[in-house]
Amino acid sequence: MLGSEAVDTLENEWLNKVEKKGWSAADVTKEPVTIQLSDEHLIIIIELMEKTKQKGLRLEDIKPHHFHEPLLEELMRSTRYALKEKIGFVIIRGLPVSTFSIDDIKRMYVGLSSYFGQPVSQSRFGDLVGENFVRAGDGRGGHRAGPLPLHNDPIEVLSLCCIRKAVSGGENTLVSSLKVWEIIEKTRPNYLPIFYRGFRVHLAGEQRPDQEDFTSEPVPIFSEKYGLRSCWMNVSSVELLAKARGDVMTDVEREAVRYLLSVIRSEELCISIQLEPGEMIYINNFEVMHSRLDFTESTDPENFRYLLRLWLQDTPSRPMIDQLNIHQNKSGLQGIDMQLD
Ligand SMILES: [Fe+2]
Repeated sequence: MLGSEAVDTLENEWLNKVEKKGWSAADVTKEPVTIQLSDEHLIIIIELMEKTKQKGLRLEDIKPHHFHEPLLEELMRSTRYALKEKIGFVIIRGLPVSTFSIDDIKRMYVGLSSYFGQPVSQSRFGDLVGENFVRAGDGRGGHRAGPLPLHNDPIEVLSLCCIRKAVSGGENTLVSSLKVWEIIEKTRPNYLPIFYRGFRVHLAGEQRPDQEDFTSEPVPIFSEKYGLRSCWMNVSSVELLAKARGDVMTDVEREAVRYLLSVIRSEELCISIQLEPGEMIYINNFEVMHSRLDFTESTDPENFRYLLRLWLQDTPSRPMIDQLNIHQNKSGLQGIDMQLD
């Protein structure tokens, strides 16, 4: 009988069938990676959503079998392939966000997204469907205006669903981390051991009571399992890294990180995408970094920029080293376990 590790290597969809390469901004545009929901798809999605209400299901009760339907299966098989084997992100267009309530939209979004994985908690409050809109007094990235630095989330698939755009700006920007790794290999291979070891990561107040506010072990920036490359970075400056480590970085480490950031931020690598209402983006988070540009809000708070967010963990999960389960949750899931306090 096969052990779970053998199943990983033989049957896990995440593993490359062909050698995967990173991409530059000039290689990628929005339309070729965008899939339009047809009227037939929408009829099915709405029917399945209505059934979840008739059955009295809560959002957390909605499972893949509730949205299992042959026509959807066919559509989602191709999007799963695009996410895992191609450039690492895909957009689905056409969710009817202006004609249904937010609760209905959340049901449709969670149901459709179940083809990519199960939603996991995004904070110690246990939120499975995050809401990105500006809230006074909340400093988290999704709840304040201003640009965000390029980073990765603690999850294998990140998704956003646009309900409303800002008056201007607010584009999502993406960079192929695999390309960053390839460039470092070619131009500064002497820095690679520093990135293979990585640095301790600040847990941003989401740690358990029995944890420090930094990971106990360094989190590698570049790592590999069964030949599958994963990249994870969530710092915006050398100074923040030094602070996170709680000690002094060596000159070579500072140089290496400064160089890494210069590659990540280069215009040749970064694409920006404006999500329109009804569009959902799915990002292969350990292969593609993301951020958001600054934006101008409407004067009417009812029309503020508003996106839903999911963190999705597939079954079987992406093969990766243990340190990439950043929060080392007791549940064994990715994301951030809910804490009862
Ligand atoms: Fe993020």
